[in-house]
Amino acid sequence: MARSGSPPDTATGLVVALDGPASSGKSTVGEAAARALGYRFCDTGLLYRALAWLALERGVPLDDDERLVALVPELELADDGGGRFRRVRVGGRDVTDLVRGERVDRVVSEVARRPAVRAALLERQRALAAPGRIIMAGRDIGTVVLPDADLKLYLDASVEERARRRAAERGIAPDDPEAAAILADLRRRDAIDSGRAVAPLRIAADATVITTDGRRFEETVAAVVAAIRAAEARRRAARPRRRAAEPPAGDRGPRRRRRSPSRRPARDPARPGHLTLLIRLGAFGARLLARLLARVTVEGDLAGLPRQGPLVLAANHLSNLDGVVIGGWLTPALGRRIHWLAKKEMLAWPIAGRLLAMSSFHAVDRGTGDVEAFRTAQRILEAGNVLFVFPEGTRSRTGALGRAHDGLAALALRTDPPIVPLAVFGTERVWPRGRFPRPGGRVVLRVGTPFRLSELGLPGVGDRRLAKVAATEAIMARIGALLPEAYRGVYAAAVAALEAGQGRGPAPSPTDPDGGAGGISTAGVR
Ligand code: DC
Repeated sequence: MARSGSPPDTATGLVVALDGPASSGKSTVGEAAARALGYRFCDTGLLYRALAWLALERGVPLDDDERLVALVPELELADDGGGRFRRVRVGGRDVTDLVRGERVDRVVSEVARRPAVRAALLERQRALAAPGRIIMAGRDIGTVVLPDADLKLYLDASVEERARRRAAERGIAPDDPEAAAILADLRRRDAIDSGRAVAPLRIAADATVITTDGRRFEETVAAVVAAIRAAEARRRAARPRRRAAEPPAGDRGPRRRRRSPSRRPARDPARPGHLTLLIRLGAFGARLLARLLARVTVEGDLAGLPRQGPLVLAANHLSNLDGVVIGGWLTPALGRRIHWLAKKEMLAWPIAGRLLAMSSFHAVDRGTGDVEAFRTAQRILEAGNVLFVFPEGTRSRTGALGRAHDGLAALALRTDPPIVPLAVFGTERVWPRGRFPRPGGRVVLRVGTPFRLSELGLPGVGDRRLAKVAATEAIMARIGALLPEAYRGVYAAAVAALEAGQGRGPAPSPTDPDGGAGGISTAGVR
């Protein structure tokens, strides 16, 4: 494949996600940066545009999922010979200029918001990125299509600036009524792209935002090139010795984020998720103990829990018995091991500490704490394993939900795993905080329906902090909804909003505290 520019060492080529709103310059900037770096490039918006255009041509209603999806195989992205996909063909005909017209502008967001359409285009985008060394531009590349991208960039500009640029491109004077219409149309498209239920436009938690207001095109390209070069250098620095041992570029298959071995904790969260005899015995022992102490009822669709891939189990926390019940029943239901985060002191206990370490308990030093817990949790999910989290971090003192840390939300915004909300209650009477167990009484474990944050259309685009607050509310509302009313605590309003059918909890409040020790928080995480 011919490439221009002078590529650095091919082994350091990255997968780069380049997201941003309509007319933020992603495709022109991305292509220019790709040329400068000798990278491939793909403008994924072309796929959605070409599909909308073809639907109009064929008279396919824009809400007819079945017929829309049937059109997808006819779309063909065209390589310019340098690995840059900036043109699209249908039936061998180059329709790029047609799909960029106003007629398509008006309807494309309607097509792109349809979950069936997005699902039909997902694998094609992933397959294109798999060989690596690519800049892929779109709306959801860093959040959904390539959540493991080596570098995520988000190109932003105010809607006024974007409208000005678009008007100038079309030779329209700023005071022309058509310029006002362009501004209104961009606002409308932003609202649809950001508000749709599936894969909304959102800044990935680990993205670098490049704001282009007042910047010349060349300056923006230079900023993107510099960000990619810096990420390549970081990777080279992080893997000095392993490179020689790696197979040559091109033989490496789909690219995964690789990390310096020195940053791995002693117990590797990436190890397989299968059940060992020890873990089976542990779960059996946990069920036995729980049954000795209480009558345990487990409710929910245990058979419907995902059997593979990354998964987060998130529960409220009332008692030491919570983890016993959850581990005891969910380990056999899942058929794979659950990874737990534990105080490092626990893993230092004689014998028991060793058994815990062998049972996928990961030591977290609460003194240096949060960043380490976050990274361990991230590696567990990146390896496709099951992570258990008490989002509140510690047992409730009141018996009702307390404020959750924002770490789980940050993690889930980054990796978008399915999250299973869990509620456990009655444990606070059987094994109260700070006391010995008091056998007798009933304990209930409720297993909710798995969901992904990307399905919820959460607010907070453009503001990481608001996105985390909204995501935390959404997770806690779903846990709270499984609890009896008296246990819903500070999330009672969020549960009420969820149950009233809003589906996303109340608007986030910027005054929400971040939380303190315990749990996972993102304080200090880049
Ligand atoms: O970037 P663009 O304006 O050419 O995108 C066209 C439409 O496709 C726009 O409505 C957003 C949508 N799109 C998307 O939803 N996801 C992508 N990855 C790329 C584009």
